[in-house]
Amino acid sequence: MRSITKEKNLNGKVILLRLDLNVPLKNEKISDTTRIDKILPTLNFLIQKKTKIVILSHIGRPKGKIIKQLSLKPISENLEKNLNLRVKLIDQNINEIKNKKFFDNFDEEIFILENIRFYAEEEMNDLKFAKQLANLGDIYVNDAFSCSHRSHASIQQLPKLLPSFSGLQFDLEVNALNKITSKIIKPITCIIGGSKISTKINIIKNLIPKFDSIIIVGGMANNFIKYFGNNIGKSVIEKNCDEIVAEINSLSKKEGCKLIYPEDVLVSKDFNGSSQIKAIDQIEPDEMILDIGPKTIDQITNIIDKSKTVLWNGPAGYFENPNFAKGSIKIAKKIIENNKTNNIFSVVGGGDTVSLLNSLKVVNNFNFVSTAGGAFLEYLEGKKLPGITALDQHV
Ligand code: 3PG
Repeated sequence: MRSITKEKNLNGKVILLRLDLNVPLKNEKISDTTRIDKILPTLNFLIQKKTKIVILSHIGRPKGKIIKQLSLKPISENLEKNLNLRVKLIDQNINEIKNKKFFDNFDEEIFILENIRFYAEEEMNDLKFAKQLANLGDIYVNDAFSCSHRSHASIQQLPKLLPSFSGLQFDLEVNALNKITSKIIKPITCIIGGSKISTKINIIKNLIPKFDSIIIVGGMANNFIKYFGNNIGKSVIEKNCDEIVAEINSLSKKEGCKLIYPEDVLVSKDFNGSSQIKAIDQIEPDEMILDIGPKTIDQITNIIDKSKTVLWNGPAGYFENPNFAKGSIKIAKKIIENNKTNNIFSVVGGGDTVSLLNSLKVVNNFNFVSTAGGAFLEYLEGKKLPGITALDQHV
C-alpha cells in the first residue's frame, strides 16, 4: 500500500477520493459528523497540494435506486462550511460524464458525485462502471477503510485502473489496528452488536479461536435467542442463520470461548414506545426486543471486569430511543471505568457505536476508536480486505 502523503507529483491532478461519508441522518440532517471530521486532514492535504478533488461515497443502502433521503447534499453542505471552500454536488448521471475535463466547467474547488450506491453497478463490482469512474480522474485515493471489506466497483475495481494510494485516515486506522492486534493481551472480550446482522454473523465463527469471550447483543442476539428455543415476537431477525448459529455455538465450546447472549431484554410494541423488562422466554408475539435487560448488563460488566482487552463493535440496543440506550450506556461506562484504572485496553468500532459515544461525550475515553464496523471485524479476523488488496494492484 502506498500512502498519498509520500507522493510528490500531485500538483494539478484530479484525485478520485473514495470516502466513507455514511453518516447517520435524521430527517435528512447529519446527527453525527465523526466520519466527516476524520477525513478533513486528507482533504486539507490534497487542497494544499493544489489538486482537484472529486469525492466518491455512498450513504445508506439504496440498492441501485435514487432515493432522495439518501442524497449526499447535507454532507456537501457540511464540507463547504467546514473547509470554507465551495463544494459542488454533481447529481448528473456518472455514465453521461465523458471525462475529467467535465470538472473544468465549474469554479468550485471540490466536487462530490451523488451517492455511488444509486448505481446498481457499484455493488455489482462492475468493471465497465469502474472504467467510467477512472475516466474522471488521474489518481485514486482510498480514505474509506470502513468500506474496504466490500468488493464494490469504487473500492475493488477502480484502484486497479489508476495510480492508487491510501489516504491519511486509512493509514491511521490500519496502523492502529496492526499495533493493537500484535500487542493484544488476554483475556480478550469482544462485544458484537448493532443492526447489520448479515455483515457480522459470519465473521463471529472466525473470531472464536482468537477471543476468550464473545458477547452477542443488538439485533444479532435475536437470532441466538430464537435458535435456543424462544419466541422473539416481531423483533428483527436475519433469515436462514440457524446453521451458522449452531456452528458458532459448537465451535465456541470446542475452543473454550465463552459465548454470551442476553438472558433478559427490554421490549416494546414499537420503536418509539416505552420499555418493559422481559426474560427471553416471556416475549409476546406483538413485542420486539430493543435492548438488553439488567441481568444481562450485570453479566457483561462482570466479564469486562475479568478482561484485559475489550473490543466493542455495535450498540446493544435501539439507542436512538433513550428508553433503549441503557444497555449500551452501561457497557460504555464500565469499559471507561476499567480503562481509567488501567485495567483494560479498549478498542471501539463502528459508525453507530461512535455516534452513541459522541452523544455521551465519552469518545476520547477509549484507547482506540475506529470509524469502521464490518471492516474492523474482518480485519480482526485476519482477512486481507478487498480494498487493501486492490490498492496493491494499482497501475
Ligand atoms: C459502514 O457503515 O460500516 C460502511 O459505510 C459500510 O456500509 P455497508 O455495511 O452498508 O457496506
